[in-house]
Amino acid sequence: MRRKLAAGNWKMNGLQASLAELSTLAAEHAEASSEVLICPPATLIGAAVAASDGAIGIGGQDCHAEVSGAHTGDISAQMLKDAGATHVILGHSERREDHGESDTDVRTKARAAIDAGLKVVICMGESLDEREANNTLDIIGGQLAGSIPDQVTGENLIVAYEPIWAIGTGKVPTLDQIGEVHDFVRARLEKRFGEGVGRSVRILYGGSVKPGNAAEIFAVSNVDGALVGGASLKAKDFGPIITALDNS
Ligand code: PGA
Repeated sequence: MRRKLAAGNWKMNGLQASLAELSTLAAEHAEASSEVLICPPATLIGAAVAASDGAIGIGGQDCHAEVSGAHTGDISAQMLKDAGATHVILGHSERREDHGESDTDVRTKARAAIDAGLKVVICMGESLDEREANNTLDIIGGQLAGSIPDQVTGENLIVAYEPIWAIGTGKVPTLDQIGEVHDFVRARLEKRFGEGVGRSVRILYGGSVKPGNAAEIFAVSNVDGALVGGASLKAKDFGPIITALDNS
């Protein structure tokens, strides 16, 4: 059985005052059957670990591929782990777009993160043009093959399907469209890594998940949770998403 995962990506949002949201979530969802993860900006990771009191996992939003060295402004996977992180998001479309990250970059970072003992949340998704040209499964297939390193297990890999056009837009694919991609990802994972690993990997949906649409998305086959941006910033929004996942 795959444990459901509600993951929040705070992106470049969050100051010390935001930690109160984490304390609220930790107190209200300490008994959640789903795993809960928040990825705050790196400046807050240490304090977030303390504020979440063990009830919520804390992750990074990116890491460098090397362990240490002359890379001003970058953060290694080992540093995230040392600060108390358990996971790291890699290959988010905003990193791919803002920083030109390729599938190879993402795969190399993922290898470093796994070596450091982190679980990786590897993101992929098509643009609106690619969706409208009926290329979605080709794009996802390419990103899956290129972004995931060989040494993953059912425990240390989480895949997030995030259509770029659904991120922060309030637009969501139909439930059939979500199901089609998630079933495809599951089949590809089983083919490449074998049924044991392929069936254990959690596949999250991301892109405009809100309290109002979470339950219907969580009912779709092979949706094992969500990666949530905007609605993860406030406990009053993220809390009902965790509850919907618990009840799914
Ligand atoms: P959103 O972001 O929930 O604000 O659409 C999702 C994401 O980018 O992970």
